[in-house]
Amino acid sequence: MAYQLLAGKRGIIFGALDENSIAWKVALKAKEEGATFTLTNAPIAMRMGKINDLAAQCDAKVIPADATSLEDIEKLYTASTDALGGKIDFILHSIGMSPNVRKQRTYGNLNYDWFQKTLDISGLSFHKIMQVAEKMDIMNEWGSILALTYIAAQRNFPDYSDMAQAKSVLESIARSYGYRFAKSKKVRVNTISQSPTKTTAGTGISGFDVFYDYSNKMSPLGNASAEDCANYIVAMFSDFTRMVTMQNLMHDGGFSSSGITEEIIESLSK
Ligand SMILES: NC(=O)c1ccc[n+]([C@@H]2O[C@H](COP(=O)([O-])OP(=O)(O)OC[C@H]3O[C@@H](n4cnc5c(N)ncnc54)[C@H](O)[C@@H]3O)[C@@H](O)[C@H]2O)c1
Repeated sequence: MAYQLLAGKRGIIFGALDENSIAWKVALKAKEEGATFTLTNAPIAMRMGKINDLAAQCDAKVIPADATSLEDIEKLYTASTDALGGKIDFILHSIGMSPNVRKQRTYGNLNYDWFQKTLDISGLSFHKIMQVAEKMDIMNEWGSILALTYIAAQRNFPDYSDMAQAKSVLESIARSYGYRFAKSKKVRVNTISQSPTKTTAGTGISGFDVFYDYSNKMSPLGNASAEDCANYIVAMFSDFTRMVTMQNLMHDGGFSSSGITEEIIESLSK
């Protein structure tokens, strides 16, 4: 059921690769709720992914941009405000990649050039998209900016490797830039810490299926799906959440507040 929660709002959605992507579900939901937006992803993802199919469904323009490049972000913002006919109300950062994870380096054998790439793509890019947005003054007052994160920023998950550091950076940037953007433009900035979700980035973590099942058993409501996440994100882009800022919001079915659950006791009692 649609409520027109985003009627009249304009946005930019980073990170829709294929129909499993969280950003993909957000785009469909945002469209249903009355928003207009542009879609963007790294140029390489344009070739590998299916973003043009999504663009056709959402009546959205696709503008390639590497989120680590200031120049690409500037071009993206100029093209987006032109295409949408005005300033922006919401931005979704749904971006993550670690060459060390992808190439299965152990945590004691990280390649530091790749580590820097992990931090740049998955962490600093969030700062870059906000710094450029502020300098170009593309945000409307009471706008909402969100990034997706994972609880490995606070707790150890061995196979998450250097992505854990990138997520800590990301969450910290949300607090620091959230302060700044609130003062300068009444724009709110938050991160959403999502349950394990079966996407390209998610399933790239080794042992993903086990920690997906573990997390499901440790969450009284079960793992939150990508669709649930899209619903939450739409609420965070809507005018009903205007005073929420500088937060890391847990969207995890109760995982982060659970010590143990009956399902875990049962599975260990054999
Ligand atoms: N899947 C999970 O289990 C899970 C859990 C919590 C948080 N997250 C986070 O959700 C976000 C979205 O990931 P997803 O699970 O939908 O996977 P996904 O693989 O569908 O999306 C990741 C996206 O990042 C994009 N990307 C990579 N490098 C980029 C660059 N240089 N510039 C621009 N875009 C770039 C990819 O092209 C891709 O579209 C990520 O931040 C991820 O860490 C995922």
